Amino acid sequence: MSRIANLKVWRGAARNTGWWENFDVPFEKGQSVLDGLRWVRIHKDPTLAVRFSCINANACKECMIQLDGETVYACTARLEEREMTLTPLPNKPIVRDLVTEIAPPSERFGR
Ligand code: FES
Repeated sequence: MSRIANLKVWRGAARNTGWWENFDVPFEKGQSVLDGLRWVRIHKDPTLAVRFSCINANACKECMIQLDGETVYACTARLEEREMTLTPLPNKPIVRDLVTEIAPPSERFGR
């Protein structure tokens, strides 16, 4: 039997209209939560919004999300063989899905 991690992911573009989606992803020891999210984008749903840049160096700080209520870097948090609840940062404006506005207001482009 194949090993599975279940990612329960918050989706949406506003906190009061969001919903949950569950994705089963293949589990391999040593993979990161970001690896799982990238697998979802490639194999299940390319519309899932996730921000990352350095992928695994913990250098860009762009992949911050909440995992089971704790703030983590998705690229360094380890994938586990269980349901893992992923939500956008609670104290930042939502852009979409797991992406929040993390740039200081003075560094944002005008809309
Ligand atoms: S992707 Fe750069 S710190 Fe996680």
